[in-house]
Amino acid sequence: MLRTSKRPGRWRQALWAGLTAMLLAGGAGCKQKMSYQPRYDPLERSEIFTDRTSARPAPAGTVARGFLRDNPGLFLGRKENGDYVTEFPFPITEAVMKRGQERFTIYCTMCHGFSGYGDGMIVQRGFSPPPSLHNPETREKSVGYYFSVITNGYGAMPGHAHQIPVSDRWAIVAYVRALQLSQNARLEDVPAAHRKDLDAPTAAAQATTSASGPHSGGTHR
Ligand code: HEC
Repeated sequence: MLRTSKRPGRWRQALWAGLTAMLLAGGAGCKQKMSYQPRYDPLERSEIFTDRTSARPAPAGTVARGFLRDNPGLFLGRKENGDYVTEFPFPITEAVMKRGQERFTIYCTMCHGFSGYGDGMIVQRGFSPPPSLHNPETREKSVGYYFSVITNGYGAMPGHAHQIPVSDRWAIVAYVRALQLSQNARLEDVPAAHRKDLDAPTAAAQATTSASGPHSGGTHR
């Protein structure tokens, strides 16, 4: 009884082994065909197209999604006629100004200094000094000019288009304007109600002035 019951068991084993082997071989065959199917290497010659190149040019007028830069004021700081714009392309809020201050500190202060006098740390270590952002002729430049200088660079200054996104470049321009005003404000710029405060600094302001002095160190301008 034992013997007879064992025999069909062996046969079944052999049958399964055979089937599995066939399936595996079939699978491998499939894989091989797919990896050897015809394809082009990059820039390979093609006989199908009249220009004989397998690399197909993008249809005329194709624009990468999100890259249709059809607003020259925003993206170039220029009007349609090529002149620099004199107005910001979007409203300058307190949040934009704070962002500009932060980005200016990161990207500009090492050369231009914290206050824009052109005495940043790497200038103190020998890099060519930029002009002060408070020069009368620099202050007169339009916002579009500043945007363009940040974007494309200027003489020894490298362009920042690849590092700083468009909206941040405008935020920096806004902050540069604030810096310029901070160093060249007239009495008339202060609301009449607050003018008396100028001569009477608050207790807090007095404490900071005596502790460090606004420009005493020089390095934190
Ligand atoms: C690596 C140093 C360096 C960095 C970083 C740098 N600048 Fe400059 N910048 C210069 C130098 C140097 C010049 C003058 C170039 C020349 O005259 O050849 C200059 C010129 C300028 C001018 C032109 C001034 C004028 O009188 O027309 C502006 C505006 C300006 N920079 C703004 C910025 C702003 C804003 C940033 C930050 C986004 C920045 N720069 C980052 C070094 C730098």
